[in-house]
Amino acid sequence: MGWYNKYLLPYLVDSICRHQIVTDQRLKVVPHATGKVLEIGAGSGLNLPLYNPKEVTAVIELEPSFEIWNKCTVDLDQLAFPVQYIQCSAEQLPFEQDTFDSVVSTFTLCSIPDLNRALREINRVLKPTGSFFFSEHGLSPHPPVFQWQQRLNPIWKTFSGGCQLNRNIPEVLIENGFRIEQMETLYLPGWKPATYNFWGKATPLKEF
Ligand SMILES: C[S@@+](CC[C@H](N)C(=O)[O-])C[C@H]1O[C@@H](n2cnc3c(N)ncnc32)[C@H](O)[C@@H]1O
Repeated sequence: MGWYNKYLLPYLVDSICRHQIVTDQRLKVVPHATGKVLEIGAGSGLNLPLYNPKEVTAVIELEPSFEIWNKCTVDLDQLAFPVQYIQCSAEQLPFEQDTFDSVVSTFTLCSIPDLNRALREINRVLKPTGSFFFSEHGLSPHPPVFQWQQRLNPIWKTFSGGCQLNRNIPEVLIENGFRIEQMETLYLPGWKPATYNFWGKATPLKEF
């Protein structure tokens, strides 16, 4: 692991993800998670204080970069539910099928190298009655913006820990066996190629 990934990237991920605009987007989905929760690409644990302690029974924080998770400043002993950190990638989840009531992803689907594989894994580990809560940035439907997203993506992903500007979040969810139950979109304040956001809830189609 290079110096960039070990020191600078964890600092950048943690600092950018602490921004109030990002917190406002988290608050639109994280408090809706219930039961046994898996959070993928948990970063520095910034969603932990936003779970509803009356609804959540346990949270597993999955994050491949220990250096990023190590930036966590939440006192896990003060939370009303148990938290377990596991260091692994969403493409290969070490859980039985139908394990979780909720899976949560905030600003992570952009960065997973094999997103199709990860979504099929999420589908597998969700209970048939479970929900996938997401708040993500991705492909804008507006031509002047998406043309810039396509142009800039190759260089952007090199310097941003693999983050891609141009992922079509609803399309990739549907392609990998999810039904989108609720979804809203907006541009957050800032540079439009990186700020088109989707948030909502999807459910797994188990016969997929
Ligand atoms: C922009 S950060 C978001 C962190 C966190 N979800 C948040 O909202 O603060 C993207 C995260 O995705 C993680 N990530 C990258 N590849 C991944 C993979 N294959 N599986 C799971 N997480 C991954 C990164 O390590 C990073 O922590």
